Amino acid sequence: MSDEIVISTSNLVKTYSISSTSKVEALRGIDLSIEEGSIVAITGKSGAGKSTLLHVLGLLERPTSGDVFLNNTNISGMPDSVASGFRNCTVGFVFQMNNLLPEFSALENVIMPGLIAGLSLSTLRERGRSLLAAVGLSNREDHRPGELSGGEQQRVAIARALVMSPPILLTDEPTGNLDQKTSFAIQDLLLELCEANNVTMLLVTHDKDLSKRLPYQIVMEDGLIVDSGRN
Ligand SMILES: Nc1ncnc2c1ncn2[C@@H]1O[C@H](COP(=O)(O)OP(=O)(O)OP(=O)(O)O)[C@@H](O)[C@H]1O
Ligand SMILES: [Mg+2]
Repeated sequence: MSDEIVISTSNLVKTYSISSTSKVEALRGIDLSIEEGSIVAITGKSGAGKSTLLHVLGLLERPTSGDVFLNNTNISGMPDSVASGFRNCTVGFVFQMNNLLPEFSALENVIMPGLIAGLSLSTLRERGRSLLAAVGLSNREDHRPGELSGGEQQRVAIARALVMSPPILLTDEPTGNLDQKTSFAIQDLLLELCEANNVTMLLVTHDKDLSKRLPYQIVMEDGLIVDSGRN
């Protein structure tokens, strides 16, 4: 780990307007500073703002106010036309629902972000194969998601999240749908891959055992960070 800060926010606010009279203040002023290579659990009760924070950090949603820096780039005012390309190269996502494309094979799903970025097919196939090998799925390259188990699908999603070699991985309940044994295996895999590739990971979880396994923890409540520190 270095002292380089890869994710930072200042006074980050996200307010959803439900109607002209009703608003939800999902993030009420978040100040974050995450060093390169950190692996951080984000915990807190349902509705605390955890997923909203990941969405705003990952450029899936825009903040209402405040700044977000990823890799020293201020993304808050970035035009949409630039944002999608920047996101594709900078952030990998793994969600509870893996959102794999059902009509494509495991290998095709893994390399899809690279195809969107216009990288060469031969380079991508090589990289996709080595990532599928890293997640233990060399023998499932040609299977479609419907022909894979839940844990296997999640491993494909992890390989896909890493195909662009992003410096940042944002994961939201990545093992929420899996049995305990599979869940542990996927957690180990995520930690190993992040450490091996110096990836900075924020992982949202309700699983207390998992959050305690990670080196750092941030606790959210009602749109704010109420506690943070080393485990
Ligand atoms: N698109 C939206 N429109 C309006 N309100 C929303 C929207 N998304 C989230 N919210 C509200 O913002 C608050 C924070 O939601 P968020 O999804 O970030 O919570 P969370 O901490 O991830 O909860 P959980 O643990 O249940 O996933 C909640 O009160 C939620 O109802
Ligand atoms: Mg959530």
